[in-house]
Amino acid sequence: MPNQDLLARSRSAVWHPCTQMKRHETLPLVPIASGSGVWLYDVDGKRYLDAVSSWWVNLFGHCNPRINAAITDQLGKLEHVMLAGFTHEPVVQLSERLIQLVPDGLGHCFYASDGASAVEIALKMSAHFWRNTGKAEKTQFISLQNSYHGETLGALSVTDVALFKDAYGPLLKQNATVLNPDSRHTAIGETAHDYALRCATQLELYLQQHHHQLSAFIIEPLVQGAAGMAMYHPVYLSRACDLCEQYDVHLIADEIAVGMGRTGTMFACEQGEITPDFLLLSKGITGGYLPLSVVMTTDKIYQAFYADETARGFLHSHSYTGNPLACRAALATLDIFAGDDVISANRSKTTYFNSIAAPLRDHPKVKNFRNRGMIWAFEVDSPHADFAQRCFSLALQHEILLRPMGNTVYFMPPYVISEAEMNMLAARTLQIIEQLG
Ligand SMILES: Cc1ncc(COP(=O)(O)O)c(C=O)c1O
Repeated sequence: MPNQDLLARSRSAVWHPCTQMKRHETLPLVPIASGSGVWLYDVDGKRYLDAVSSWWVNLFGHCNPRINAAITDQLGKLEHVMLAGFTHEPVVQLSERLIQLVPDGLGHCFYASDGASAVEIALKMSAHFWRNTGKAEKTQFISLQNSYHGETLGALSVTDVALFKDAYGPLLKQNATVLNPDSRHTAIGETAHDYALRCATQLELYLQQHHHQLSAFIIEPLVQGAAGMAMYHPVYLSRACDLCEQYDVHLIADEIAVGMGRTGTMFACEQGEITPDFLLLSKGITGGYLPLSVVMTTDKIYQAFYADETARGFLHSHSYTGNPLACRAALATLDIFAGDDVISANRSKTTYFNSIAAPLRDHPKVKNFRNRGMIWAFEVDSPHADFAQRCFSLALQHEILLRPMGNTVYFMPPYVISEAEMNMLAARTLQIIEQLG
């Protein structure tokens, strides 16, 4: 099938996500035919280094043989069964292994498919917990400024990105936001640590005044992805966790983007030494293969639903909850983490990339070069209002898939990226920035 024909058919039949479709009158879609390691190949055989891990999901490369083998094996046994009233080995094993890995005390796993559905579950579970324990007035949520938790109505109500939210304002529950501890906003002479504590003081004031109505505080630990990879000091997590406990407000750690090793530890919460009331995982949990999300919570929450009356239970469901193929992909992903000592291998990769990225970091057009684990980001001084679009298109010509957010360029590559590929990514990005003018 010729390329042009596929693009026209896609524009006609597929409504692409997060896209003003009219732009594709001039901006061609990229027709991908296959993938291998960090590389995506288009229908003409042209390759692109997937520096954004296909919307932050891919961990161990495209078409990873070990994950492929696990899914293929599972396909011959059981593709799916509903999880209400039924269970299966992959979902039980995955739950047991996750419980061992996450911070202590999160002993119950509730599954869904995408990140946003995990957010919906956590919000509902939190408010339902208060209702079941005699505090039905606790129905409000708070999030950080510039937060992003997904696009469904509940998730959007705790998201603070006007572009995604404004059109649906009348449909959304009004929730408050608190100052975000983004280290780029530190005052002159102030450290990221002190700024984080200053932001926590504002959180404390809010909690003092509103805790009677507050169900939960939802937070992206350490890195706010959609805010442009805003990074902050872990002391904010520790302080926020203490304050939530003090004021009887749940803490929901949305690790959908940052979990599974992305920030340099298996879970970002580890760096703040906290156990939240809810921990949410998705994206990388299946290595980027299949939609799966999980809400992990404590026995205290679980017990508040455990009763003779049906209505006290958590009567939420999705058809594909706990899908065995997705669970096997997740188990294979955990096997790779353990077998290849991925967290420490990533630390070496981070050190290596930081050493070769010096020319990029020191480039006069580059501002706020920052890194946490396997995430790098920086702002580019540019006269072009459509910088993101130009950068994306030029990067494709340089065989790199970059997807800037505004003037923020970021790298979130699959963990299998080699030194040679890192060299190429850093060198070509430098060329791209110079050519963009
Ligand atoms: C922190 C965070 N939460 C939730 C979501 C929503 O996940 P999904 O797109 O799978 O619904 C995202 C997606 O980028 C995210 O970054």
